[in-house]
Amino acid sequence: MNNLNNKKILLIICGGIAAYKSLEIIRLLKKNGVIIKTILTKSGAQFVTPLSITSLSQSKVYQDLFSLENEAEMDHINLSRWADLILIAPATANTISKLANGNSDDLASTVTLASNKKIFVAPAMNVRMWEHKSTKQNISKLKTYNYQLIGPEIGDMACGEYGEGKMSDPKDIVNEIESYFKNLKMNNKLKAIVTAGPTNEYIDPVRFITNKSSGKQGYEIAKSLSKKGFNTTLISGPTNLKINDNINLIKVETAEEMFQATLNNLPADVAIFSAAVSDYKVKDVSKIKLKKQDELNLVLEKNVDILNYVSNHNSLRPKLVVGFAAETNNLENYANKKLNEKNCDWIIANDVSNKKIGFNSNFNEVSIFYNNDRTEKLKYKSKSEISDEIVEKIINHLN
Ligand code: CTP
Repeated sequence: MNNLNNKKILLIICGGIAAYKSLEIIRLLKKNGVIIKTILTKSGAQFVTPLSITSLSQSKVYQDLFSLENEAEMDHINLSRWADLILIAPATANTISKLANGNSDDLASTVTLASNKKIFVAPAMNVRMWEHKSTKQNISKLKTYNYQLIGPEIGDMACGEYGEGKMSDPKDIVNEIESYFKNLKMNNKLKAIVTAGPTNEYIDPVRFITNKSSGKQGYEIAKSLSKKGFNTTLISGPTNLKINDNINLIKVETAEEMFQATLNNLPADVAIFSAAVSDYKVKDVSKIKLKKQDELNLVLEKNVDILNYVSNHNSLRPKLVVGFAAETNNLENYANKKLNEKNCDWIIANDVSNKKIGFNSNFNEVSIFYNNDRTEKLKYKSKSEISDEIVEKIINHLN
């Protein structure tokens, strides 16, 4: 497990009977060379003592948000910045609820809210609490915030009931974290390009033709790739979206600019073309603002098909080329047609006539058409979860 060596992990222990298993997590992490700092919540301290944690982790336990001594040494912001990763184990229903709602009334929730690091959550609670609608809603919120869940498992509970809610085994939790760092290291060498958003094709200096596209799915894919360690370049048409600093964002306006930016950033290992590129551009763009007239005849000419060009290029073609198809009808036929004609490895298709998904929605439902005739449906879920799933498939394919 040398992928854990010298990694800095902030372990947050909340109040549940499973807290005793956190000591085993500390032992295993320590054995693998991890540098650990621990936050113990007030109720966590009812189950395990700071002394047992310090003895195993050989480092200080942080407990109070307003402890002057700790603040001088390391404030909550620095504590969250210090870590390569935060692990909350056990994560109680109460802490999960706080995190889902952005509360920050103790050190654990404040540090988590202030963090821009990878956060793993290992829930542990009674089966009824786990199955409660409010917990389910909180969990799906955490997923949209990109928190990664480990477990819980089904089994006998300390309270005597049986069901889902048991914290995962410490060994499994440590394995999951190890494979996260392993992936990060492996993917670091991989380069990804994502195109996203619409393009604007100018008629004159103040008017343009565009396509309907929020860019959300493409941005989420770029985020998921970057989260998994890919060296990611996002080539984006005009959108209102923000993206993390570690993604190389190239803003473009026209299809021609998007094409040039794509070429400039090749070679890459994977390219995902999610942009809604305008198929046409105006043949003679007026340099001055056109005055209103009864009729305006525009001659449009075809834009370069970026996906088609890259996908059919002998030397520039990435190992994996993924196209998108937004269709209102005949989804399967059109998706397969694009798959073949554009020489893609996969086409990700969605039905944009469905109002619940697609344009500007945070949710989506897509089908992946593979070039080996296989099709796979990813059910209705947030665009961020869809992206994580797509990226998992990309990693499996590339490795
Ligand atoms: N695409 C591209 N460059 C273009 C047009 C499309 O890279 N000039 C890419 C899109 O990013 C998407 C895929 O091609 O990945 C499908 O685009 P779409 O517009 O649906 O396909 P078209 O070939 O334009 O077909 P049609 O508009 O007739 O459905």
